[in-house]
Amino acid sequence: MGLGSGKGKTILFGEHFVVYGLPALAAGISSVTTAKLTRVRSFGHTLVDNRPAMPGYKKEKYEEQKASLENILRHLNIDTTKMGFQIDLGGDLVCASGIGASAASCVAIVRSLNDEFKLGLTEEQVNEAAYEGEKGYHGTPSGLDNTASTYGGLVWFERDLGGGRPKFEKLKLKKAIHLVIASTGITASTKVVVEAVKIKKDANPKWWDEISEKYIQLVHKAKEALIQLDLPKVGELMNENHELLQELTVSCEELDNLVKVARDSGAIGAKMTGTGRGGNMISLAPDEAAAKQIAKALEKAKAPGVWLTSFGL
Ligand code: MEV
Repeated sequence: MGLGSGKGKTILFGEHFVVYGLPALAAGISSVTTAKLTRVRSFGHTLVDNRPAMPGYKKEKYEEQKASLENILRHLNIDTTKMGFQIDLGGDLVCASGIGASAASCVAIVRSLNDEFKLGLTEEQVNEAAYEGEKGYHGTPSGLDNTASTYGGLVWFERDLGGGRPKFEKLKLKKAIHLVIASTGITASTKVVVEAVKIKKDANPKWWDEISEKYIQLVHKAKEALIQLDLPKVGELMNENHELLQELTVSCEELDNLVKVARDSGAIGAKMTGTGRGGNMISLAPDEAAAKQIAKALEKAKAPGVWLTSFGL
């Protein structure tokens, strides 16, 4: 039997911008996806998906999930024409757009294969194989999600647009920072939303250059504010990042509503996270008690999923 796991993640700053080589900050969260690989007598491979998920998520991602597994097997040279196994996915990460569910499952699957077939993969190679899996979900992943999922913690990430290894740095904070995550319940296709941004960018390069410049200034300030644990500044920058994402047209009414509820109930800052046009919103809480109060307000506003988490240590 082979076992593996991958962490969920949340993008604090930089979704979509990261696809074009701009820096991003992401944090692994404590919830994980697990993979258990069991050999079977027949040839071929099956995936049994027992992960908790938002309604509709698994159906929406089914074809992409299949493509992703094929990519991983091809990358690791695992041929199931003469042997067979079943992989069971589980864990406590509730699958929803924006929480890194696809990357967490890729990392978990790669680790279970590594365990069963004694591949001797380093963490870097696990990350690379998971990146191949992510390509099944959308053609041009930045690599941020699988990196956050493989290594956990708080990461500063820059994609190498030339196809080389990404630059990433793990950041440690002196204190954990509390986040409240809420789901819109809407599953979005990363492929579709990333493509929509590309069309907008290609149609108006001047606009893209201006918004990118604003974002670059913002993300450097965010890194500094996080290291200094200057939460009011981090919150202010999250709010500004949300506005830039609205300008990219990747937010939506449901996300904007959740952002407003969080801010009105004590969050220092709030923004959509991940792909957008559905998926999740994250909000920054000054402390654990405030996080519980924000979560209550989001539940009262009928957010289909609400989770408390922390990052930084
Ligand atoms: C998706 O979680 C994040 C995006 O920036 C895509 C990517 O980084 O590959 C939208």
